[in-house]
Amino acid sequence: MVLIKLLYPLAVVTVLPMVGCSSGGSGSGNPSSSSSTSSSSSSSNSSTGGNTTTTLTFANLHVLAGFPVGTAVSAGNESFSIMHSNANAASQRNIIEQHFSQITPGNIMKMRYLHNTYGTFTYEQADALIDYAAAQGKGIHAHALIWHRSYQVPDWVNESEDLQSHLDHHISNIAEHFAGKVDSWDVVNEAIDRNAEGVWGYRDSVFYQKLGKSYIPNAFITARAADVDAELYYNDYGISSADGKFQFMLQMVDELLADDVPIDGIGFQMHVFMTWPDISHIRSAFEQVADRGLKVKITELDIPINNPFGGEYSYPDNYVSNFTAEDAYAQKQRYCQIVEAYLQAVPIALRGGITVWGVYDGDTWLNSELFSNNHVDWPLLFSTNFLPKPAAQGVGDALSGRAC
Ligand code: G3I
Repeated sequence: MVLIKLLYPLAVVTVLPMVGCSSGGSGSGNPSSSSSTSSSSSSSNSSTGGNTTTTLTFANLHVLAGFPVGTAVSAGNESFSIMHSNANAASQRNIIEQHFSQITPGNIMKMRYLHNTYGTFTYEQADALIDYAAAQGKGIHAHALIWHRSYQVPDWVNESEDLQSHLDHHISNIAEHFAGKVDSWDVVNEAIDRNAEGVWGYRDSVFYQKLGKSYIPNAFITARAADVDAELYYNDYGISSADGKFQFMLQMVDELLADDVPIDGIGFQMHVFMTWPDISHIRSAFEQVADRGLKVKITELDIPINNPFGGEYSYPDNYVSNFTAEDAYAQKQRYCQIVEAYLQAVPIALRGGITVWGVYDGDTWLNSELFSNNHVDWPLLFSTNFLPKPAAQGVGDALSGRAC
């Protein structure tokens, strides 16, 4: 397996043990059996001449669900911003307005965007996005009040000698500003990691180094005081498998609940692969969170065809370079089964919603971060040409109660 440069720690700690997922054809089945697939291919990333895009059997994905169906978006000044005045942005907005009921800003509500200089809050880009969402009747899942990743940690955090009070101010000001305008918040994002000995515990972030684990309950308490209505989530990746990260998270959450910390739910990022995690593990993780009376929200779902951590993957020799009809069909099945597991495992009252991490395959973090610009993948519901993929039909099938 060729070693690729990893900018994101996701799978270093969570996926390495798995093997054998590279072709994307593992879902099996006959792509032509999908009655709703279009006979004409319009997807430029397909060399197979058809069936990588489809004609959906429904008009609006989100109306099939009794909970938010969301998408992350690029906004503000980002390259693929939906707020730009160009054809790309207009095409993305068409998809959003038709198929999604909730928007997550993929970047522009992170720490550095809203509060780069201590005491100076920059809300213009987020406000503009929220105004757009409100005008379209879309909700907002806001992301994220506290995140460790150095690229997004403002200098004032590292320099602070009174970090708890500075974080309180950060959270209070932001959550108050957006109170009444957002449905929910990722309050703390990715606070769990494996240490050098491989043991799961609290991530050795600047927050943990300076404050210990207390920054986590304090963040929820401050957020609730500033916005009494928004649902408050702990959000993380790699928690839908059976490994120790999920177990540590449950332990952390049980402590928070025992201490009456105002946490409403768990955000499962779900940057998953075609065969990892096993669907039974995903279902079980949802169930165990719901058993605690917490909401379950899928916050960042995407499913690439290539898995750089799978045993059969190697770049450039052995990665899937064309998105075929077989891949599209297998991906449809995988999306369908994940949504089906969500519906099976999570009672109606605890369904926080399902969000995919990007509007269309032309704007996915995976190409640049996971695949280091070595190649592209096709992890989302809409094609690089903004057309619905079988994956979108798969989500719709599950939401409609059709067998996957
Ligand atoms: O805005 C600059 C632009 O000016 C510059 O030319 C360009 C060249 O590098 O970079 C642009 O910034 C990029 C930014 O996204 C905005 O597009 C950063 O390099 C890039 O690192 C950043 O990546 C984001 C990443 O978080 C880090 O913040 C991804 O878009 C975003 O999808 C990803 O999202 C995370 C979630 O927050 C948490 N869960 C995992 C998920 C995927 O990593």
